[in-house]
Parts: sequence; C-alpha cells; structure tokens
Amino acid sequence: MDIEAQILPVEELVGAVDGFLAASPAARAWDVETAFDWSRADADRLTEGQRSAVRFVTLIEDHLPGYFEVYHRYFPVDDTVDRATFVHNRELYHFTVRWAWEEDTHARALSRYQDASGIAERDRLRAELAVEGQKPFDLPYDHPVQFFAYALVQEKATQMYYQHLRDVVDEPVLAGLLTRMAKDEARHFSFMADVVGRYLRVSGDAAVEPIRDVIANFRMPLSDTMRGYWRWALRIADVASYDHTEAYEHLIKVLDRAVDARTDRHDELVRFVQECRTMA
Ligand SMILES: [Fe+2]
Ligand SMILES: [Fe+2]
Repeated sequence: MDIEAQILPVEELVGAVDGFLAASPAARAWDVETAFDWSRADADRLTEGQRSAVRFVTLIEDHLPGYFEVYHRYFPVDDTVDRATFVHNRELYHFTVRWAWEEDTHARALSRYQDASGIAERDRLRAELAVEGQKPFDLPYDHPVQFFAYALVQEKATQMYYQHLRDVVDEPVLAGLLTRMAKDEARHFSFMADVVGRYLRVSGDAAVEPIRDVIANFRMPLSDTMRGYWRWALRIADVASYDHTEAYEHLIKVLDRAVDARTDRHDELVRFVQECRTMA
C-alpha cells in the first residue's frame, strides 16, 4: 500500500488540527522553568518502586527525537511527495511541532525532577538517556491511519499511567507534574481519536484492516530496544496499574462513534479489539 494514496482529504485533517490547537491555547501551556517549585522536590518521600517508575517514564518521554522523526519519514514536508500530499503533510506539521514541543517539555520536566529530587544527578542522567536515545525507533506501517491508531492507544495508556501513579504518590511536586502531563496526553489522545474517526468515516472498511493490524501487533514504544524493558515494565505496573489494553476501551468508543451504518468488517474489528482487552 502507498501512504500517499490513502491520506485524509486535507479539509478533514485541517478540522482535526484546528480542533487540537483550539484546545491548546498558549495561555494554558506550562513550562519547566515556572510551573513548579523544584526546590521542594523530594525523592525521599517516594518508594523505591515510585522512583523506578519516574526513571522509566523519563526514558520513554526522552526518546522524542525518534518519535518526531517518524512523522517526517512517513509524512515528509519536502519535494519527495506530490503537491497535494505536501499540503496535507504541511497541515499535519502544525500538529506535530506543537505536540513535539509538549513532549519535549515532559522529557525536560522529568529530568529536572530527577535532578531536583535527588533521584539522579544531571550529568549521569544525560549519559544514561543517551544510551536509549541513540537507538532507532520506527513504526513500519503502510496505511496512514495506523500511525494515528498506534498513537491513540499509546497516548491514552500514558495518560492513564500518569493518573494512576499520581494517585499513589505522596509527593506534591511529582503529583503536580503527573497531573500536568496527564492533561497533555489526554489532549494528544483526543487529536488521535479525532483523526482515526475521520479516517473511518472517509475510508470506511479500507481503514478497518490497517487498524486491526496495529492492535494485533501492538508494542509500547522502546519495548523492542530498551534493555530489560519487560521486567522493568512489570515492575512499574506493580507500582501503579500500567496496562495499555485499558486504552483499547477508548479505541472501541472511537470505532462505535465513527460510523452510523456498521459493516460486518467493522463489527469484527470491534469484537477483535474487545478480545484483546479481555485477554490481558
Ligand atoms: Fe508525554
Ligand atoms: Fe503525548
């Protein structure tokens, strides 16, 4: 399949991007420098498991250059695509730069927290992050809806993890940071849900198989490259519930709402996603 041939009509994408930016006014944005009183950050108030969870999510958020690059690779904004695709990709870029800025803020805030709270000293953390940061990241998809379906699950799973972790943490600076980040991830999820819904309405059944494929082969980012990922992931799930299939319920809602007249293939996809949720 050819990604260019299957992208959303530009007016559909513009609707989603405009909606995201309208929901993200600069006045409600936050930054690492002023949002928190870092001098009050105190890792002594965290359990060993909670400190481990902070280190884990810092690594995940810090891989942003790899995630950002995927958009450039599959939605290029240059002369390698035809004019209509460029126009679509240029509109998407309005989303990706804003999203990337927010994710980069998460990465910096978590590093700042580790340093200020006493989890890790800044130079050592930088070196540790570089080990994973240099590893390649790719989402080898061939239908454009797949990138958004993948991110839909991933953003929602991350949002829920931050909320669960916040609920068990007795340290106000970290709790405040987790609250801020969870709100951002919720907005990122909403954009992805909007785009996936538009693909289903515009492309109908042609979007169904590609989405099924994403769920059938779903892996959280870095799970294939990070050393000791699965053991670590299980450990942080002990600290606060971390189950990406919880996000599948939100995908099912998007599928339910997307089309009025459901087809057999659409119904089969909903059943499949439900089964993946129940099995976990
Ligand atoms: Fe994030
Ligand atoms: Fe996000």
